[in-house]
Amino acid sequence: MTTTTTALNTNMNRLLALVSIWLSAATTTVQGELVISEVAPRGSSNACDGDDWVELWNNGDEAILMTGWMIADDRGWTTPDSERFEFPDGFEIGADEYLLMCTGGDTMNLVTPMNANFTSFVGPTFGIGAEDSLNLVRPDGSFTVLGPFPEPQSGSIKDITFALDPSTGEYNFTSTPTPGEPNIITRVPTEAELIEEQKVQLAAQNDAGIEFFNFNRQGLPVEDGFDAIVELKITMANSDFDLLMSNPQHQTYFDFQSASVVTEDGVELLVLDDPGRIRTRGDEATFMASCLGSPLPFRLDFDDVNKTQTLFGVQQIYLRHPLFDASYMREWAYPRMLARFGMPHARTRMVHFYINEKLIGFYTLMEIPEQEYVFARNFPNYNPKNFALFQIDPLTEGCGQYSQAELQSGRDRVDDSSTPPYSFERGTHVRPIQELGADMFKECQAAFADYKANTLMEDVVLAYVRHDEVCSDTFLDEGLVDQELGSDNWDNEIKNFIRDFMSFQPCDPDCTNSDLAKQVDIQNFLKMFAFYAVTLTIDSPLSEVNNYHLAQEESKEEKWKLVAYDFSKPGSPSCNTKVCEERLIHWSLVRPTCLSLEENVLVGPLLLNVTASTEYLGYVREFLDTVFANATFLEQIQSHASEIQDAVESSFGGSAGSFANELSPDATSWDAGGFPLLPTMKARAEDVEKQLAAIDDGSIARGPHQGKENEPWESCGDWQLSEPDTSACEGGCKYDGCNMPGWTVECFCEEATGVCYRGDEDLSCDGIVDGERYTGMEDGTFCKLAGGVTVKASACLEPGAVAVSNDGGDSPSSSGSSRWSTAAGAWPVAELLFVCVLVLSRSSW
Ligand SMILES: *[C@@H]1O[C@H](CO)[C@@H](O)[C@H](O)[C@H]1NC(C)=O
Ligand SMILES: *[C@@H]1O[C@H](CO)[C@@H](O)[C@H](O)[C@H]1NC(C)=O
Ligand SMILES: *[C@@H]1O[C@H](CO)[C@@H](O)[C@H](O)[C@H]1NC(C)=O
Ligand SMILES: *[C@@H]1O[C@H](CO)[C@@H](O)[C@H](O)[C@H]1NC(C)=O
Ligand SMILES: *[C@@H]1O[C@H](CO)[C@@H](O)[C@H](O)[C@H]1NC(C)=O
Repeated sequence: MTTTTTALNTNMNRLLALVSIWLSAATTTVQGELVISEVAPRGSSNACDGDDWVELWNNGDEAILMTGWMIADDRGWTTPDSERFEFPDGFEIGADEYLLMCTGGDTMNLVTPMNANFTSFVGPTFGIGAEDSLNLVRPDGSFTVLGPFPEPQSGSIKDITFALDPSTGEYNFTSTPTPGEPNIITRVPTEAELIEEQKVQLAAQNDAGIEFFNFNRQGLPVEDGFDAIVELKITMANSDFDLLMSNPQHQTYFDFQSASVVTEDGVELLVLDDPGRIRTRGDEATFMASCLGSPLPFRLDFDDVNKTQTLFGVQQIYLRHPLFDASYMREWAYPRMLARFGMPHARTRMVHFYINEKLIGFYTLMEIPEQEYVFARNFPNYNPKNFALFQIDPLTEGCGQYSQAELQSGRDRVDDSSTPPYSFERGTHVRPIQELGADMFKECQAAFADYKANTLMEDVVLAYVRHDEVCSDTFLDEGLVDQELGSDNWDNEIKNFIRDFMSFQPCDPDCTNSDLAKQVDIQNFLKMFAFYAVTLTIDSPLSEVNNYHLAQEESKEEKWKLVAYDFSKPGSPSCNTKVCEERLIHWSLVRPTCLSLEENVLVGPLLLNVTASTEYLGYVREFLDTVFANATFLEQIQSHASEIQDAVESSFGGSAGSFANELSPDATSWDAGGFPLLPTMKARAEDVEKQLAAIDDGSIARGPHQGKENEPWESCGDWQLSEPDTSACEGGCKYDGCNMPGWTVECFCEEATGVCYRGDEDLSCDGIVDGERYTGMEDGTFCKLAGGVTVKASACLEPGAVAVSNDGGDSPSSSGSSRWSTAAGAWPVAELLFVCVLVLSRSSW
């Protein structure tokens, strides 16, 4: 007899055993016999609630009385075994009748005229493992053995049964389970075929959204694309609606009953009748929206109850309300740029969102990146059996770079039984957010910064202490680095990545100690850097080391790739804000980071490498020419801007005429405030042209490979300057040296005096009155409480004075801390910078 080739390769012994058993089974399949006709050793989706099952078939033309028959797994039947199954006395199986027996110990309903007395009895309770065999025992003690049932080597194990082929009298795998019915033998597809089939399905799922997003695979609009704005409506119980809106900080799910998509003229485009679920989403976005009273950010799952229910192919969406981007267009335009550039992206479109016919707000709807069809679109060659997508929480910033005080506070709380739940987990334990009001933007930002530093990060540090101060264990166990898709064998790789590239210890000079180039897909990284640098997306791995996913497609090379999302914050929230905003348009292409390249372990190792940075500049050129400065694309953005103008101006915080800058074709209006998208794009395109020309003809003054490197403390370096700009210290402090290396606490300003300070964290200042000194304190210093940290402070130097170098003996930096400059990692520093901004803006009101 022939056997399935699928089973052949396992091992010889097993194969021989299998053949002989099949032979014994095959010889019993004579006419007029009761046979095991089909076995589902791994269940099937069309019977027995997915439990394993066995089917018997009386292939004769007379009924068979089952009294005395037994069926058992390979534990046998000779000694009474609780799991052997004895047929009830008098039970019969009619001629040509099939008996389906679920093995989950379920009650069997067999209402046939012949077995009217056995309306129900409990079926077998043994499962059928791959190594199991089945014994069908006759009343005279003779028996038939069938099995074991190895997994088909190629092909899915789902819905594959082992069945008697009536045409040959032999057993084979089939991909068409027929519980209780005549068998149909269909070839088990190979793994390659299954993968292909799955990819075709995922592609179809993706393509179902092309018109809805008006966004094809190249990022271009399509002929039948839907209007620039459509209405997304859901209905939900009023009580749930109230809970959702009154406790946004919980980020917990509530059901919604139905959803629909309607044009602004009221034409229904889609109705979804099955329930889904909705929750608020995002620590910062939820906090800011609650504080300002602006539209909340949401996540909606359409496939929660009915797995096949989608919104034009999309299972889950985010609704994002632009808080920081006055153009309302970055989340719309940037994914389109990425798609045109052939890079991973998540599609977006604008919607008015309604709950129970009440308008909630004007949102960017985004397909969530953690859906397999999105992954399949972004990485067409991925291996569905061995891929991964990890989400990186912003709270992972600066892992391990915690101060002694922070660590001590974590150690003090290590036995605190009320945590977990940690404050960074979703749930009803999260305390309410105070609403300050729509025009309290800076106060809300400050409140969030405070909440992040004193609540969220404190709990991150506590978790870190509890995980023996190992970043990777902390992040993976607490879900701060969360695998959203893929197979579960990437733990070691992600742990190594976290250890090497997420701790934000600066690398050695020229990053010669880094093996980033070996760990990542260089082309993907360099193209993403080009995109970020040209678009001025500094709130990204370039500076905040933020807003990215890590993907593995395991095609040829198992290397990490960046997947970007969240383009909602133009400018730089925690680089040196003033410099970065005023000069951002001239942000150096050769050093597109916040501080020096060595300070950024995800970027420096590649851009300090001449080969890689040359390749990167090629991508900058390509991106500029084909996407960023593409006239057709700019027209598309312009016309989109006109289409959404009314909606923006009548949405939260908008007013008539406020959007005008966005429509301006004039590059010089880029610095009108808030980074209007089109003028900024035009001004940046001109600047990038000039930079590329200067790099080409060697006239660029500074940067790696240009003779003179930017200073390590200089944020958002301006390529035009031959010397770094020291005039624009954070908070308007006019002095030299405050940004020099060596201070754990960068410059901060005192409102009352207008004096700027710099300092070092100093635990000896704990308990000392602000402005006072402790005994033995260095000359010229005093204690200050700044951003929750006690600081040994000193006034900054006047402009023109010689800056104190940090390599001197009694310099405050002799403690060797590297925190002063890790803008991304050192949140208390960011806090302090923020203090300066706040003081400034308050005093100017
Ligand atoms: C069912 O049970 C009744 C009484 O217990 C008996 O008279 C009858 O013959 C049985 N029917 C069959 C089909 O065994
Ligand atoms: C089992 O099916 C495969 C095709 O799916 C066939 O090549 C093979 O000959 C069959 N084996 C037996 C024993 O019928
Ligand atoms: C699930 O949703 C799909 C698509 O909307 C629909 O065709 C199907 O009937 C639904 N299934 C159930 C069980 O309601
Ligand atoms: C420099 O970059 C190239 C790719 O552009 C890469 O192949 C090489 O390994 C890198 N070298 C180092 C030392 O990282
Ligand atoms: C600009 O974009 C259009 C599509 O919108 C494309 O057809 C064209 O080739 C692009 N131009 C350049 C120079 O790449």
